[in-house]
Amino acid sequence: MGSPPPPTLNTLVILIPVALFLSVLFMTISAGNFTQDFDIMWGFDRAKILDDGEVLTLSLDNSSGSGFQSTKKYLFGSINMQLQLVSGNSAGVVTTYYLSSNDSKWDEIDFGFLGNLSGDPYIVYTNVVTEGSGNREQQFYLWFDPTTDFHTYSILWNPKRIVFAVDGSPIRVFKNLESMGIPYPNQQPMRIYCSLCNSDVDWATRGGLVKTNWSEAPFTVSYLNFDDDKSCIWSNGTSSCNSTTSWLEEGFDSASLERLRWVQNNYMIYNYCNDLERFPQGLPPECDIY
Ligand SMILES: *[C@@H]1O[C@H](CO)[C@@H](O)[C@H](O)[C@H]1NC(C)=O
Ligand SMILES: *[C@@H]1O[C@H](CO)[C@@H](O)[C@H](O)[C@H]1NC(C)=O
Ligand SMILES: *[C@@H]1O[C@H](CO)[C@@H](O)[C@H](O)[C@H]1NC(C)=O
Ligand SMILES: *[C@@H]1O[C@H](CO)[C@@H](O)[C@H](O)[C@H]1NC(C)=O
Ligand SMILES: *[C@@H]1O[C@H](CO)[C@@H](O)[C@H](O)[C@H]1NC(C)=O
Ligand SMILES: *[C@@H]1O[C@H](CO)[C@@H](O)[C@H](O)[C@H]1NC(C)=O
Repeated sequence: MGSPPPPTLNTLVILIPVALFLSVLFMTISAGNFTQDFDIMWGFDRAKILDDGEVLTLSLDNSSGSGFQSTKKYLFGSINMQLQLVSGNSAGVVTTYYLSSNDSKWDEIDFGFLGNLSGDPYIVYTNVVTEGSGNREQQFYLWFDPTTDFHTYSILWNPKRIVFAVDGSPIRVFKNLESMGIPYPNQQPMRIYCSLCNSDVDWATRGGLVKTNWSEAPFTVSYLNFDDDKSCIWSNGTSSCNSTTSWLEEGFDSASLERLRWVQNNYMIYNYCNDLERFPQGLPPECDIY
């Protein structure tokens, strides 16, 4: 686990208790089992499950990437996964980790990681798609090098909100604003998908300007400590959760909000809610709420 980002002086007082609280929370991660919980979907032997199911690696070469998906479907969950991203020159290499429904009305909660030249920063990409409509990207730099160690990337998805977090720091919140007519993903179960692929043609690194150097292939990303202990598993039309499942009501306290603001003020590099050019008819209605 990485150390928390360096606090600025005026947030120090707030951050110390938060850091203690979060480290307690995130040290209890229990190791999942990749053999049991996931199926390799493509890429053949480019995807490998190692160490009795504790680690999963995906690789990418000039002919293919690779990917896997969860055997279970979820309708709400608190999902933690640790990733160590491709090191060195990873320009054009895209790592994904997302939840997606594969239904008539498409819902998706996305984490993506866009590689870069050695020493240049990765971009963490997030999006929320509801009923087939996305266009809600937010992008971030990280406060650490994501290639030297494993770090925890979490998606909390409950009926009230979706929270994206990195090493316990919330980086983005998408609230349930159905009362304002904004669709929220709460009808369709989703699987977890992960993949490693190439996207140097159009967009990945500096908008596609920097190409993948295939002489450095194969590229490899590792996944560790999958944890879905707090999740509602959807099976045969019923959920494993019921009204006694307390985290389904989990709120967002002021310390978390402070932390979220700190990340957004210092590391957010793109926010659809600030992109007036993209939305000449006016920003999406949820943009007024944050
Ligand atoms: C792909 O990489 C392999 C091994 O480095 C090389 O032999 C082959 O020529 C490459 N193929 C293409 C289409 O670049
Ligand atoms: C989505 O469902 C269709 C048909 O049910 C299937 O052919 C396709 O492979 C599925 N896609 C994924 C990513 O699971
Ligand atoms: C790669 O590095 C360049 C230069 O620092 C930066 O502009 C860009 O945002 C970085 N990330 C990606 C994925 O292009
Ligand atoms: C690609 O990587 C090889 C091996 O590291 C290096 O020798 C070469 O200069 C790189 N090519 C480019 C275009 O950067
Ligand atoms: C799913 O539900 C149906 C109807 O209730 C039942 O007949 C079937 O055995 C169930 N399947 C499983 C795998 O539980
Ligand atoms: C609710 O879920 C918990 C945990 O899965 C379970 O132990 C309990 O029996 C369930 N209660 C009811 C009323 O179904």
